[in-house]
Amino acid sequence: MEGQIFLLCCCFTLFSVTMLCSAVDTISAGGSISDGETVVSSDGCFELGFFDPENSKRYLGIWYKKISPGTVVWVANRNIPLNDTSGVLRLTNQGILVLSTETKANITIWSSSSSGEPVTNPVARLLETGNLVVSVGGKIVWQSFDYIGDTFLPGMKCGRNLVTGLDNYLTSWKRSSDPSSGEYTNKLDHNGYPQIFLRKGPVIRFRSGPWNGLRFSGMPNLKPNPIYTFEFVYNDQEIYYKYELINSSVVTRMVLNQFGSLQRFVWINRTQDWILYVSAEMDNCDHYSLCGAYGSCNIANLPPCGCLRGFKPKFQSDWKSGDWSNGCVRKTELTCKDGEGFIKIPSVKLPDTRNSWFNRTIDLKECEKWCLRNCSCTAYSSLDIRGGGSGCLIWFNELIDIREYTENGQDLYLRMAASELGSNGEMKRRVRTIIIPVLLGAVIIGVIYVLLAKKKKRLKLGEQIIEDKQSDGNNDEDLKLPLFSFNAIADATNNFSDKNKLGEGGYGPVYKGKFRDGQDIAVKRLSKESKQGDGQFKNEVILIAKLQHRNLVRLLGCCIQGEEKMLVYEYMPNKSLDSFIFDRAQSSLLDWPQRCKIINGIARGLLYLHQDSRLRIIHRDLKASNILLDEEMNAKISDFGMAKCFGGDETEANTRRVVGTYGYMSPEYVIDGIFSVKSDVFSFGVLVLEIINGKRNRGFNHPDHKLNLLGHAWKLFQEGRPEDLMDAPVRDSCDISEVGRSIQVGLLCVQQSPEDRPSMASVVLMLSSDISLPQPKEPGFFTERQLIEGDSSSSKIDFCSTNKMTMTLLTAR
Ligand SMILES: *[C@@H]1O[C@H](CO)[C@@H](O)[C@H](O)[C@H]1NC(C)=O
Ligand SMILES: *[C@@H]1O[C@H](CO)[C@@H](O)[C@H](O)[C@H]1NC(C)=O
Ligand SMILES: *[C@@H]1O[C@H](CO)[C@@H](O)[C@H](O)[C@H]1NC(C)=O
Ligand SMILES: *[C@@H]1O[C@H](CO)[C@@H](O)[C@H](O)[C@H]1NC(C)=O
Ligand SMILES: *[C@@H]1O[C@H](CO)[C@@H](O)[C@H](O)[C@H]1NC(C)=O
Ligand SMILES: *[C@@H]1O[C@H](CO)[C@@H](O)[C@H](O)[C@H]1NC(C)=O
Repeated sequence: MEGQIFLLCCCFTLFSVTMLCSAVDTISAGGSISDGETVVSSDGCFELGFFDPENSKRYLGIWYKKISPGTVVWVANRNIPLNDTSGVLRLTNQGILVLSTETKANITIWSSSSSGEPVTNPVARLLETGNLVVSVGGKIVWQSFDYIGDTFLPGMKCGRNLVTGLDNYLTSWKRSSDPSSGEYTNKLDHNGYPQIFLRKGPVIRFRSGPWNGLRFSGMPNLKPNPIYTFEFVYNDQEIYYKYELINSSVVTRMVLNQFGSLQRFVWINRTQDWILYVSAEMDNCDHYSLCGAYGSCNIANLPPCGCLRGFKPKFQSDWKSGDWSNGCVRKTELTCKDGEGFIKIPSVKLPDTRNSWFNRTIDLKECEKWCLRNCSCTAYSSLDIRGGGSGCLIWFNELIDIREYTENGQDLYLRMAASELGSNGEMKRRVRTIIIPVLLGAVIIGVIYVLLAKKKKRLKLGEQIIEDKQSDGNNDEDLKLPLFSFNAIADATNNFSDKNKLGEGGYGPVYKGKFRDGQDIAVKRLSKESKQGDGQFKNEVILIAKLQHRNLVRLLGCCIQGEEKMLVYEYMPNKSLDSFIFDRAQSSLLDWPQRCKIINGIARGLLYLHQDSRLRIIHRDLKASNILLDEEMNAKISDFGMAKCFGGDETEANTRRVVGTYGYMSPEYVIDGIFSVKSDVFSFGVLVLEIINGKRNRGFNHPDHKLNLLGHAWKLFQEGRPEDLMDAPVRDSCDISEVGRSIQVGLLCVQQSPEDRPSMASVVLMLSSDISLPQPKEPGFFTERQLIEGDSSSSKIDFCSTNKMTMTLLTAR
């Protein structure tokens, strides 16, 4: 938080540069401005001058003056900063803008280019559009709009001038406080039919798809709207995309941020803030070539990748394990013999057109003939979809990066071998002779199997060992869970002395202990209120004992004696996560790589509980104090399964206590008592943001607003500076794109509506790969602090009186 205040102050001093000169919008030949002086566009909207985004480095740039000063839209010397305030911008008599230092050496830091022709009376002017132009007799000889930085303003042309060779594209900043060229670019590619690629270094992340007359094929949400109009121009001289404001009183800009997201912001005068209007990429399927060659991505499917009709995965085993990058191959190879034809694949994003050919005048019928005539042609489509379609676009070789849309997609005609075409009869025959018998067989085997499994179900309870032969898998695994005597445990824990007490959980106190053989243990002594029968308790324990995962705390055994019920776990020397992240001194021990490892560990453990374990357990009380850390700081979820064991059995007449902790509970859980795996996902999201920020969601304070941590993170994210959320130890050791990614995943997890939240499977995937992330919507409970704190004065809420379920509120330890 200190860091933010510091940054704020720094921005404040930085942009309240005193205006020495009266507001002029021009520099005439021989004239100059030095650091501290500025040029202002005639409508007062934009300002040109020197600024300092962070440290002592100074840059010449253009920013909004009337609104949002501090939002820089263009930087001249982004890669060669000035070290002091000695910078001077001068317009030479030759019509060249020169930025130099006024020291002895007169070093030129940056200069505009010139045509080399002699000029008279050049003038540099900052236009109302934010464009800095040098003109001679009304003719523009140089303009800043030809050198886009990270901000794409109305009127700029992103693309290529085929005459001059000028290639104008977006390059991200390195950080929000460092304008030097970052890794990401958004650039037109004019191989084949032009498209725009968003790249990280040389690697393509996102492809706009070809222009189809209305929009880019891969950007279905680029639609007519009340704010701006857009066009794509492709002629002999130039290829470019640009947009213009419909009403110039609305301010909008598009930015390629340091995390590689291309986002459009709109200024809201009422709140004096930028809001995110739309992002170019929408979901995983926008990740370039996610499904490989001839694969097709459909975000509504799980897994999203499938093969096009007539194709099968190239490597079946890779495909099944989620590695789709090798794509698909034809079931029947093309031979270029007679009889080959096309099948229609409806409503898709057209494949990569770098290896394509087009003709604007021929129609679709003719297009088909052209494609058939050339043996390396694999597909064709209309070039322009307006007015029923016109033109012809033909692909050669592999088809890459196809996705399906529910609306605004295009038809693609895919070349097929004769045997794969229209043989409907063939298909039906196959269904009759192969598929139906196979299905019937499977059903019969299934029924026999279930009957056998029931017979085998047996439960033996021994004196010292609980053996469980109940097996619903095909392997006959035996489970042996030690049953400890009360005396052995009392002995190990020094007779449950207060000195050995580690803490108090939702179900009773937890003690540290040491068995005679030297093994360290943690004992959870369940409170006696739990009226569960012994047999039932044992059954539950057997279930928990089956959960084995490196990110879950291992249950070593249990103890049942009279009223006493205890669970014996492995002991975690590094205690719980909350003792690290929320503690000023301890938190410095946890750098970003460790926090990242912890986040990933929790995600994997939770995924196992939700999906991979046979029990499908909802944790329901995921919080920092329930995450334990082993010697190597591996995260281990504890208290898992307890929710299921002690609260889930609603047919029981006993009163069950469902324990949750405010700050971590999802809105639908707190308000309606509805819980699902998505409530755990919510808690996980809170945890991620806490791990990054080092403050508790509950009780979070910020001098600028009344939001809780979720709200704060959301605000920073919307303002395009999520990295400000970082705790100091994170900031020193961070991989900025990794942190940004984690923040975005955290925000996706805490979205208001459970349906919007990703599953833990997607979370694990999003954290461990660099697939592109969807844009989060508003988080749940981010402003409702008053409501929550008001309620918490009563320690119990009856939110489900019909089945007498009560919830005890625990303040986080
Ligand atoms: C700023 O300082 C750095 C490091 O001392 C130096 O390499 C660089 O040339 C300086 N820049 C200017 C414009 O003087
Ligand atoms: C630096 O430039 C200024 C202005 O053009 C000039 O007066 C001064 O003599 C130059 N100094 C050197 C060392 O070239
Ligand atoms: C532009 O917007 C302003 C403010 O909303 C409005 O007053 C003005 O009439 C609009 N101009 C046009 C041409 O629509
Ligand atoms: C912006 O809001 C301020 C008050 O917050 C108001 O005075 C001003 O007229 C508004 N500007 C526009 C363009 O609506
Ligand atoms: C497009 O096809 C038409 C008709 O076949 C032909 O006259 C024209 O030259 C073609 N254009 C290009 C660029 O190949
Ligand atoms: C097929 O198209 C490719 C790519 O344009 C071209 O190189 C090749 O010569 C064509 N083949 C025939 C037979 O027209």
